[in-house]
Amino acid sequence: MTIPVLTIDGPSGAGKGTVSRAVAKKLGWHYLDSGSIYRSLAISVLDQQIDLMDESAVTQVAKNMQLAFECNDELVVKLQGVDISARLPTEETGAVASKVAAYPAVRKVLLQKQKDFRQLPGLVADGRDMGTVVFADADIKVFLTASAQERGERRFKQLKEKGIDANLGKITAEIELRDRRDSERKTAPLIPAEDAFYLDSSDLTIDEVINQVITLTVM
Ligand code: DC
Repeated sequence: MTIPVLTIDGPSGAGKGTVSRAVAKKLGWHYLDSGSIYRSLAISVLDQQIDLMDESAVTQVAKNMQLAFECNDELVVKLQGVDISARLPTEETGAVASKVAAYPAVRKVLLQKQKDFRQLPGLVADGRDMGTVVFADADIKVFLTASAQERGERRFKQLKEKGIDANLGKITAEIELRDRRDSERKTAPLIPAEDAFYLDSSDLTIDEVINQVITLTVM
């Protein structure tokens, strides 16, 4: 029996996390925030002062990572037993995650960790390559995007709410840079799967997006 998967891929700040969590809750399915795995690796690499340009050293760190996820209302991530959740959303973590995620050997090591989330009764998986690589056989695929300006504003609000100091212009520029890096890399670039439902959320509320995705699951 194959376990159903709904993938939600898209660029940074498109609302994937909020939408995926809400849809997973509504369906009673598990949730994979694959970006948090790359972000955890970024934290591990920074803490160990590993040279970001050294692919094999970064890959070794990925191999040694012991990650535990607890998904209640908020996602709690433990790295080698230590709660790193508060450090995950920062721009620095995201930028370093995007760099280490470009290494093919790193992606290979982290592939199985992601596939292991596929458990009954089903999985909602959010990331960049969920529908193209990790769960290429997914039942429903969504590519969720929004303009860079809109995503910058949303990220800015999110960070402010979390009490993290932020600058809108800088955030939008960083989002554009990260989009380019994630889309132009050779391995598992950010591109919509051929069979993905393309959803531009620029002019939609989060509830409208959630409802559209839910509609797809009952078609
Ligand atoms: O979704 P996010 O912003 O938390 O992801 C952080 C970075 O991790 C993103 O810029 C690229 C990388 N990433 C990836 O390469 N593949 C994924 N499936 C998820 C994230």
